[in-house]
Amino acid sequence: MSTVLITGAAKRIGLAMAEFFASVGYNVAMHCNKSEEKAKIEAERISKKFKTKCAVFTCDLSKPELIPEFFQNILNEFKQVDVLINNASIFETSSIFDISYHKILENFNIHFFAPVFLSQVFAKQETLENGLIINMLDKNITRTQTKYFGYLQSKKALAELTKYLAIILAPKIRVNAISPGFIIEEEGTIPNETYITKKLKSIPLQKQGSVEDIIKAVNYLLNASYTNGQNLFIDGGSFLTTPHP
Ligand SMILES: NC(=O)c1ccc[n+]([C@@H]2O[C@H](COP(=O)([O-])OP(=O)(O)OC[C@H]3O[C@@H](n4cnc5c(N)ncnc54)[C@H](OP(=O)(O)O)[C@@H]3O)[C@@H](O)[C@H]2O)c1
Repeated sequence: MSTVLITGAAKRIGLAMAEFFASVGYNVAMHCNKSEEKAKIEAERISKKFKTKCAVFTCDLSKPELIPEFFQNILNEFKQVDVLINNASIFETSSIFDISYHKILENFNIHFFAPVFLSQVFAKQETLENGLIINMLDKNITRTQTKYFGYLQSKKALAELTKYLAIILAPKIRVNAISPGFIIEEEGTIPNETYITKKLKSIPLQKQGSVEDIIKAVNYLLNASYTNGQNLFIDGGSFLTTPHP
């Protein structure tokens, strides 16, 4: 039986991915940081529902030096990881004028260095064949101006890493990305109607996406054995209308 490791899998898109992989017969290594209690409840529910093994592994990915031990704990339980999904993320406003070294480093640690070192330990698995890495980006990687400076710069770096790894880790591992658009609002926020109307106007399909739309892309990448180095924009076409200056 194959195993998937999903970072940030206790809630939202990561949790939906955990449920999807279990539904297609994968064992699931669910990573979390602060949501350990919720992750454990979800892991038990998923294991029972799909009769697969689903276990929780906690690690603060803002400390990528913890990754070798974290990954070894997963290997002790599952022997091999076949699919790695770099999904964990933080999303905070910042600008070049106010961001601190600590904040920009946190963004790069979670969105770039953690995927670098997870890819390293993933690729070092000697018995791995037909491996897959999916990096979760953002449709805004096409933009230049932003109110989320640290977030965007680090996601852009992850987009470049995706292309590099797609060459370097081939032919044993395919590396692709998904760039979601307007899928789920920030946790704990209830956006008002004006905000939603403005947002929908910039999306050619004029509707919000859903977690199911992301899962369809994951399902495609899982099965698309000749697809490597791609970035799927799941955003209703809004990356085409995003202002670039
Ligand atoms: N939601 C959208 O509409 C949207 C739009 C564009 C791009 N995306 C991308 O799609 C992915 C999933 O989105 P999402 O909204 O579901 O993600 P999210 O809720 O913002 O974050 C997912 C998880 O990341 C984990 N995380 C945060 N800091 C961490 C740290 N220091 N160490 C380890 N894990 C940490 C958290 O785990 P704990 O709760 O366990 O701490 C959190 O539950 C993200 O990569 C995001 O950038 C999403």
